Amino acid sequence: MAFPLVLLSHPLPPEWIARLQGHARLVVGPAQPGGFAPHLLEHIGQAEGIFCLLTDPVTEELVACAPRLRVVSNMAVGFDNVDVAACTRYGIPVGNTPGVLTEAVADLTMLLLLATARGLPKAAMDARDGLWTTWSPTGWLGMDTAGATLGIVGLGKIGRAVAQRAQAFGMQVIYSEKENSLSPQIFSGARRVSFDELLATADFVSLHCPLTASTRGLMNEFTLKKMKKSAVLLNTARGPIVETAALLRALREGWIFAAGLDVTDPEPLPPAHPLYDLPTCIILPHIGSATFGARRRMAELACENLLAGLAGRPLLNCVNPQVYNR
Ligand code: GLV
Repeated sequence: MAFPLVLLSHPLPPEWIARLQGHARLVVGPAQPGGFAPHLLEHIGQAEGIFCLLTDPVTEELVACAPRLRVVSNMAVGFDNVDVAACTRYGIPVGNTPGVLTEAVADLTMLLLLATARGLPKAAMDARDGLWTTWSPTGWLGMDTAGATLGIVGLGKIGRAVAQRAQAFGMQVIYSEKENSLSPQIFSGARRVSFDELLATADFVSLHCPLTASTRGLMNEFTLKKMKKSAVLLNTARGPIVETAALLRALREGWIFAAGLDVTDPEPLPPAHPLYDLPTCIILPHIGSATFGARRRMAELACENLLAGLAGRPLLNCVNPQVYNR
C-alpha cells in the first residue's frame, strides 16, 4: 500500500518524528529553514500533508497547487505564516502546537525580564573586559522586580505562565485582552485593565498576543510613548507586533528604559542592525521554545496533528475547526 505523501519542509531528529514511520512517505526539504525548497515544491501536486515550521509561508498560491492536500501541520503555536483563511476555503485543517512549549517560553520571558532589569549582558562583558576593579556601591545598578508591575498583553496560556512566575517574584500583575475577547479571562491576583492603562502603569510590558492584522505594529511610536520612561518592553511573541524603527528611537531617545526581544522584525535581525549596539537592548535568536523537551514535544504533537488529518480525523489542535462544519 502506498503511504500518503507528506512534505516535511526541513529535516528533524528522527526520534522526534518516529510516529510518522509506516504512515507517511516523506519528502524532506533542506536543513536550512526558510520556506519550501524548489525540489519540495515539485511534489506539491501529489502532497496529502504538509509538515512545516514557522519560517515556511503556506500561501494561498501553494495550497491552490495541492489538490490532494488534506492537512497542514505547523510545528509552532503561532500560525501567522499560514494563510488560514485560504486553507479554510479549500477545506484543509491547519494544526498548531499549543501547550507543550508554554513553560519554556514563560521561562525565557522571565530570563529576559531579569536580564534587562539588571543589565546582565553589559555587567558580564564589563567583568570580562577588566572593568570590575572593585565592588562599587553605585556600579551596575538595575531595577527591582519585587513590587514592580508587570503588564501582560494577551493572557493566553503563555501569558498566564509568565504571570504565575512574576507573582512568585513578588510582582503585581495586570493584563489587557482584546476588546471582543470571547471568553473574558479571569486570573487570580491579576487585574484586567485597558491597553492604555497597562502602558501607562506597567514597569514591564510583556507581549503574549498572536500576530494578527490587529496586533501588527501594536507597539509603535504612539504606544511606546505611552509607556513609562523607566519601563521595559519584552517581546517573546512575534517580531512584527513591535515596529522596529519606533523601538530604536524609543531606546535611543529614552522614551523607555530597555527592551528584551526574542523575536524581531525582520527575522533574523541583520548583524549590522543598530539595535544590537544599544546596551539597553537584549536580542535573542527566537529561542523561546528551544529546550530539548519542548521542541521534541512540539514535533510529536505536530506529527499527531498530521496523522489525524491524513486519517480524516479531527486534529488534536486545529486553528480552523470551522472546516469540520461544512
Ligand atoms: C514559536 O515562536 C512558536 O510559535 O511556537
